[in-house]
Amino acid sequence: MPQYMMRRILAISFAFFFAVGSLTSAAQAPVPANAPYKDVKLPVDKRVADLRGRMTLEEKASLVGGYGWMETAPIERLGIPSIKMADGPLGVRSWMGSSAITNASGSKLKIESTSFPSGIAMASTWNPELVEREGEAIGQEVKALGRDMILGPTVNINRQPLWGRNFEGYGEDPYLSSRMGVAYVRGVQRQGVIPSVKHFAANNEEFERRRIDEQIDQRTLHEIYLPAFKAAVQQGGAWAVMSAYNKVNGENASQNAPLLQDILRKEFGFKGFVLSDWLSTYSTAAPINAGLDLEMPGGPRALDAIKRPGAEGSGVSGLWLTTQNVLAEIKAGHISQATLDTNVSHLLRVIFVSGLFDHPQEKLAGLDTPAQKAAALEGATQGIVLLKNAGLLLPLDPAKIRSIAVIGPNAAIARTGGGGSSLVAPKYAIAPLDGIRTRAGNDIKVTYALGVGMEGEDPAQDTPEARANLLKEAKEAAAHADVAIVVVGRSSKIEGEGHDLTTMDLPAGQDELIAAVEAANPHTVVVLNTGNPVTMSSWLEQTPALVDMWYGGQEGGHALASILFGDANPSGKLPASFPKKLQDSPAYANYPGENLKVNFAEGIYVGYRYYDTKNIEPQFPFGFGLSYTTFKLSGLSITPAKVSGQQPVQVSLKVTNTGKRAGAEVVQLYIHDGHSKIDRPTHELKGFTRVELAPGQSKLVYFSLDRAALSYWSPEMMDWTADPGTFEIQVGSSSRDIALRAPLVLAK
Ligand code: BGC
Repeated sequence: MPQYMMRRILAISFAFFFAVGSLTSAAQAPVPANAPYKDVKLPVDKRVADLRGRMTLEEKASLVGGYGWMETAPIERLGIPSIKMADGPLGVRSWMGSSAITNASGSKLKIESTSFPSGIAMASTWNPELVEREGEAIGQEVKALGRDMILGPTVNINRQPLWGRNFEGYGEDPYLSSRMGVAYVRGVQRQGVIPSVKHFAANNEEFERRRIDEQIDQRTLHEIYLPAFKAAVQQGGAWAVMSAYNKVNGENASQNAPLLQDILRKEFGFKGFVLSDWLSTYSTAAPINAGLDLEMPGGPRALDAIKRPGAEGSGVSGLWLTTQNVLAEIKAGHISQATLDTNVSHLLRVIFVSGLFDHPQEKLAGLDTPAQKAAALEGATQGIVLLKNAGLLLPLDPAKIRSIAVIGPNAAIARTGGGGSSLVAPKYAIAPLDGIRTRAGNDIKVTYALGVGMEGEDPAQDTPEARANLLKEAKEAAAHADVAIVVVGRSSKIEGEGHDLTTMDLPAGQDELIAAVEAANPHTVVVLNTGNPVTMSSWLEQTPALVDMWYGGQEGGHALASILFGDANPSGKLPASFPKKLQDSPAYANYPGENLKVNFAEGIYVGYRYYDTKNIEPQFPFGFGLSYTTFKLSGLSITPAKVSGQQPVQVSLKVTNTGKRAGAEVVQLYIHDGHSKIDRPTHELKGFTRVELAPGQSKLVYFSLDRAALSYWSPEMMDWTADPGTFEIQVGSSSRDIALRAPLVLAK
């Protein structure tokens, strides 16, 4: 270990173990019982100013560095509570250690809470109201567990199909991600719980995630990677934002003044606090001066983590904002007291507005309540996407089917989520096989075969003989059943935080398993249980039915069964395009970068913006998903059809359920700008609504568009602008299934 590191660590140890204790014992002016900051009726700014004015410099400094792994420092003298955090975002995870430790069976550190579907599954519902309910449920559980803050939502954009954390976020489109992120924030905050919108900004690969320097032009940042953060701040009123691990344009996100000051504070008007992602700070004065309000984590565990061999080389760094370090930098004139006051004010403001100061111990609803479980089940169900249903194999008809063979490495194990800090330990989790068995009841025989071991899970299943046997069993099971259901996908080890996927292909042996089962039984349903697209070219043509259940949380198996048997009608739509092959994806040539630099050279052409503009046919397009019924869109009307200035436009149309089952359609509105001064994607999503319809029923749906919906970010003006001319309003059921089009004129 380098000498300077050693010195710093000693200083840190000293600071942590001795300094914090001595702070609180320093002589302070007594605090009157009726001090203004204690008055709930006073405006929050007045309370903040009063409280801040009573704090010593040491106390202020102690607030900006983490106190423990998941806590801020309490200041008892003034009644300032510690902010107690938990991961996030797909439920509440134990704050006492990594998932690997706390989720292990028998672990004393385990915390059981509702495991919600992955973000990508929730995005597939296109149902912000449901995401808001999920946020509310998570907020309740946070409180019930005695915590105050949930480290989510993740709103990073799915730039390319290998990012290990794509499952956490809401897909490839900034508008969809914005709506979902806002809904999550609103739900959480309604419970008085602090969310943390993460990771700001452009955390889009796990490869060298703490050291990679992303070169992103301003237009791309503004149009693709920032809108979900902006919406969370401006529409959701988010109380906290977490900086990313990566660098953006040469500077670490935790000390990136253009991001934290110019964009987040000045452009977006953010009033909450910014915390660092865990162990991603690199100095003391720079992050504070750049607008970071809180370094996380602090304490002995943080010290252990930065001392671990190899930590420094991989960019693990922290404990820079300890009380002593901050005081030293103030003394040296590198941080002004006014700057520290600003940071402290951001934190205090949230402690007041969230209610944490006034009722810190309040515990609301419990854990795993019926409403929480219902939100998890509804999310899992509405998030399932029916990708193919040739010959109408689905829904399964229990009156005609006598036997089902359930096969595959993801059939009997409930793989509820991807790996890493978001992986929740639920009280129970329903595997696909459990869900199917329960639904099938006694009249349908359900058999099970593993088919192939999950890559990397059990070496005994990985020998040529073991593989041959497993495959043989699977073929036999399939051949003897009326229907075969093959559940394939990834594990939380393969797909998760800390590393990217190495391939878009399914793990070893799974393509072969699908082909073998399909050869044995023509009535085969393939179910995907992953958070990212997979390559399907070797089997898709022969596959009669394909369902994507993503990682569906604890209720995934029930949700899947209800879709397979038609108790629920699939209504999920892809929030990310599925390319035919990895090489087709927009960032293919610019990932993972070289010499710790990655150029986002594809610019704004991410996802369907790329596939649809460059005419590259995806396997399944953005917004796509089938139903057991059919829908018709008609009667598109734009009022007025010519606008100027900030005048809003009303778009309306009729949606009709033309089939025989109740179902829900997600009507998507895209704008096409063929006349702008600079290149724009062939179309961009600007509205959507999920409509539930009984058979034969029609409903009118409305959208309101404003000038912002027509605008692009102009590098020349460094601002959003819309060029007068004729736009096309497109309405459809996916980015490649546009049913109706109508012109809209923006006058000069
Ligand atoms: C992750 C964050 C997470 C934090 C705390 C980091 O490694 O990137 O998303 O909230 O750890 O567990």
